[in-house]
Amino acid sequence: MILEEERRAVIRTCQRMQRLGLVVGTAGNVSVRVGDRVVVSPSAVEYQDLAPGMIGVHDMDGRPVDAQLRPSSELPLHLAVYRGTGAQAITHNHAPASTALGLVVDEVPCSHYYSGMFGGPIRVAPYARFGTDELAGNVCAALQGRLGALMSNHGAITIGPSLEKAFSLLPYLEYVCEIQLRAAATGLPVKTLDEDQMAHVLEGLKTYVPTRITG
Ligand code: 13P
Repeated sequence: MILEEERRAVIRTCQRMQRLGLVVGTAGNVSVRVGDRVVVSPSAVEYQDLAPGMIGVHDMDGRPVDAQLRPSSELPLHLAVYRGTGAQAITHNHAPASTALGLVVDEVPCSHYYSGMFGGPIRVAPYARFGTDELAGNVCAALQGRLGALMSNHGAITIGPSLEKAFSLLPYLEYVCEIQLRAAATGLPVKTLDEDQMAHVLEGLKTYVPTRITG
């Protein structure tokens, strides 16, 4: 089977999103790019049932190269993001705080320094129906210079140079949104970091690399 390791990684990532409560049911999707091939989760298949043969391989125009099932309805979005950013992997979820915050702001201010992980204030892509080229364009625009974005009335997306990295950002995005929501819900002014403070954060984050020590 071609790209079997990548197919397995897509399954692992879908199931991790589910375990962390970042998706409900079959919401969300995951892909990784390998050269001119995209390995993507299938549409509307329960994550616990996924097997490597169910993960499709498509070309950069969306044509199936080796795919048994219908690809994610968001394949156009994934392809647009690969074309329009330097991403090599994409994770999309419907996490509650990310989705809720996307309903009330157009941009998440830098209230937590973790916004620096995404490159600055996190934009909210305007609503368009799932699976449409319009949504793909809106999300691609929101991701310029960023590693994450919210999708209005829908969910959230992270991108990265690897699937591991793109996935690792998802819980942080949900956390940043949860904090902003809680602070805003008090009705009190929310303290945010200014440009100088964020530049300082970005400097610090360059050498802050979460590491697992297994032994
Ligand atoms: P798929 O199951 O087709 O990937 O759709 C889920 C989703 O979240 C659409 O945005």
